Amino acid sequence: MRVAVLASGHGSNLQALLDAFAAPAAPAVIALVISNKASSGALARAAARGVPTAAIAESGDDAPRLLALLAEHAIDLVVLAGYLKRVPEAVVRAWRGRMLNVHPALLPAFGGPGMYGRRVHEAVIASGARVTGVTVHLVDEQYDHGPIVAQWPVPVRPGDTAEQVAARVLAVEHQLLPAVVAAFARRGAAAVCSCADEAFGPRAEPPRPLDDALVAALPPAITETR
Ligand code: GRF
Repeated sequence: MRVAVLASGHGSNLQALLDAFAAPAAPAVIALVISNKASSGALARAAARGVPTAAIAESGDDAPRLLALLAEHAIDLVVLAGYLKRVPEAVVRAWRGRMLNVHPALLPAFGGPGMYGRRVHEAVIASGARVTGVTVHLVDEQYDHGPIVAQWPVPVRPGDTAEQVAARVLAVEHQLLPAVVAAFARRGAAAVCSCADEAFGPRAEPPRPLDDALVAALPPAITETR
């Protein structure tokens, strides 16, 4: 399966994909890397591995060029890995069901327009959430909105900075995204949903119900809604 990766930033997720699928017998090959930022680390990482690259303009209608590039390189699956430019609707329509995005939080929370990079983790911390995570989803016409194919939780610890949460989340992205792409390659779009469990093993323990001692210690407003 030939994969195109679109990225705007450091490209560490691209690197995880390049490393995961480096062997000749790997089920997928990273066949093209596209960026809207000429200075993107992703383009340098791709070039270092001899993977074809393409830069697209920051403004204007890039749909014809994107569609032509994907066809020219015989791409089967498109992966958005830290791609910060909106994908034109014509491209989303043409690639529906064959275009994935990785998001550094548990969608549908902490997603949508303007919710990218450090802002996501700052919003998670500000909310008081104790769990964040990684979501891989199919791309539709809205930001961070299409069908979710895999998620994995990451703890938020008291006193965490956005950088600490980002690093913990990114480490999971680097495992989950290649796992989803491998599942896509082996079994197709319909079968990717169980790949998070396969990548990480079964969860150590299912979520525990509140125990009675804890519930007794809660303020009345909380126990009443139990
Ligand atoms: C990742 O956290 C990704 O989820 C988000 O942007 C970051 C990109 O990191 N959309 P990198 O460019 O892959 O290092």
